[in-house]
Amino acid sequence: MSKVTVVGAGNVGATCANVLAFNEVADEVIMLDVKEGVSEGKAMDMMQTAQLLGFDTTLVGCANEYAQTAGSDVIVITSGIPRKPGMTREELIGVNASIVKSVAENALKYSPDAIVVVISNPMDTMTYLALKSLGLPKNRIIGMGGALDSSRFKYYLSQALGCNANEVEGMVIGGHGDTTMIPLARLAAYKGTPVSELLSAEKLEEVVQATMVGGATLTKLLGTSAWYAPGAAGAYVVESIIHNQKKQVPCSVYLEGEYGESDICIGVPVILGKNGIEKIVELKLTDDEKAKFAASAQAVRQTNEALKEVGVL
Ligand code: LAC
Repeated sequence: MSKVTVVGAGNVGATCANVLAFNEVADEVIMLDVKEGVSEGKAMDMMQTAQLLGFDTTLVGCANEYAQTAGSDVIVITSGIPRKPGMTREELIGVNASIVKSVAENALKYSPDAIVVVISNPMDTMTYLALKSLGLPKNRIIGMGGALDSSRFKYYLSQALGCNANEVEGMVIGGHGDTTMIPLARLAAYKGTPVSELLSAEKLEEVVQATMVGGATLTKLLGTSAWYAPGAAGAYVVESIIHNQKKQVPCSVYLEGEYGESDICIGVPVILGKNGIEKIVELKLTDDEKAKFAASAQAVRQTNEALKEVGVL
């Protein structure tokens, strides 16, 4: 029996639960929300697609009844407010930090062995907050940002190349912020051929820039932050854990010296399996990439400082 809880049944949480069920990642998916009726209604609506879509996962919705989440293998935290057009993810910290802290603590009471996947923004800082406040080993706290940003990078690369996004390699490391993420253009490839041989330097730079503001572009179009790709990216991370797939996925994880950084959660490639983070993969970065990573870490650290200002750490 595998069980996943998604805390927060807004657009991102509900999409994540929907993808988890559709792909039969777990036997049971619990959605928990603060609002009465929302997660119950969404779970019932999704269960009414089971016959149409042919999945066997059971979805259950509940309002604030953490007891229903007991014994979860993975807890996905999507709680908090999304950004509005013109806002940065970092501006959400004042509202989201106390919400994320309290839902994480409540959920862990009933699932003390769970692996925690953080989606709430500012994602790297919320991952750091979960790590510091829950006191869990670092392999059990994972921020999903890099999975989403890498998927967006592959989307923009495939658009520029006119090819299938599944045939493109691309990875984004660093913070999950408009100015902190680092799409690794040097390592991007189409069927083994470096994209630098297929796209002009100018076009490649356009792809990198579009990736970095990928979330903001959608927020402007939608009037709120995106949910299909963020929800699916969360489910992708959960699937590699629950099915012990050992996929290499860039995620926000706690560093202790890797990439020259310590006491920070930031995006680097990791192997995801049944123990959560099975391994941190240390890429050989160029001096330029190293400098970008150091600057990104400094910006994330600055946002982490705000956790003290808002009184949650
Ligand atoms: C985004 C939000 C979810 O990037 O961080 O769309």
